[in-house]
Amino acid sequence: MNRSFCIAPMMRRTDRHFRYMCSLLTKETILFTEMVHANAINRNEPAKFLDNSKISNSTVLQLGGSDPLELGKAVLEANEHNFSEINLNLGCPSSKVQSGNFGAVLMKDVNLVKECLSEMICNSKKEISVKIRLGVDNFDVENDLTFFMKELINVGIKTFYVHARIAILQGLDPKENRTIPPLNYQRVLRLKKEFHDSNIIINGGIHNFEKAREEFKSLDGIMIGRAAYDSPYKLVNIDQMYFKSNKHAVSLIKVIERMFSYINDLNVNEQSKAKFHMLNLFKGLIDAKKSRILLLNGSNNEEIKNELLSIIHFNENQVA
Ligand SMILES: Cc1cc2nc3c(=O)[nH]c(=O)nc-3n(C[C@H](O)[C@H](O)[C@H](O)COP(=O)(O)O)c2cc1C
Repeated sequence: MNRSFCIAPMMRRTDRHFRYMCSLLTKETILFTEMVHANAINRNEPAKFLDNSKISNSTVLQLGGSDPLELGKAVLEANEHNFSEINLNLGCPSSKVQSGNFGAVLMKDVNLVKECLSEMICNSKKEISVKIRLGVDNFDVENDLTFFMKELINVGIKTFYVHARIAILQGLDPKENRTIPPLNYQRVLRLKKEFHDSNIIINGGIHNFEKAREEFKSLDGIMIGRAAYDSPYKLVNIDQMYFKSNKHAVSLIKVIERMFSYINDLNVNEQSKAKFHMLNLFKGLIDAKKSRILLLNGSNNEEIKNELLSIIHFNENQVA
């Protein structure tokens, strides 16, 4: 799998509707689901969490959990869906997640992580990967991280998505944990030298996609979270920039038309979720604010679509 450019897992963001929109903008980018707890899959209707049927991009299912048997069972369900890889979340610092003993807090218990991963690997038809931080709390980002990764490699992990900062589990909320602990890209670059046979994908604070390609060319890829959600139309250049595609970038008009034919097949609740993910598509255009109001408050999809298309035409005429 070519992981040169990946969109990070984000709760309440990277659901199937956002992933569908991304798949219109870029065919090659690796997409991630939101984190899904293993129990949610095992104790509910699995298809509710695992539907990826409309998405042709390689997609990674991210699981949360710390019970090896539950994780193994969820992986068996995931085998029946079109995921290219399954990832274990070892980086989420939220207090709710900590109290459930999964996410970043697991970096403190390498033996339990190994048990979880072994069970997942044993049951999976696809590769199992991890998303980690450089450490948690007073973890030593040099020796402790090297030890942690070696242990995971020993159970068969080949691919590490690395959020290039530590997580501080007491005193910072998840949002602060994405800004306050300083980024340490150098440590990630050195990880690739230490573990040259592993796939190392860097994540955290990357905004300039073109510059990042050069800066992190020694790594196996970059992973973008907020910058992709906040300016999704920038994704139209990724296939050419990162995957040597010579296909033309899709126009915003085509994206809007395809999104609305997709939306019209959804129930009303899912329609609002899908339209919510389109709010940032018009960023930077004249009347972007009007597009947001239409998407949030409009009730007739045909009218919303036509108004959005006229905003695009208006902007095109200004440029011409
Ligand atoms: C709203 C939101 C939800 C997130 N949910 C998850 C998640 O479910 N699993 C996960 O591993 N990381 C999650 N993250 C962290 C991102 O995957 C990523 O590591 C982080 O935002 C840093 O990358 P960025 O600076 O490119 O946004 C979330 C981030 C945001 C902003």
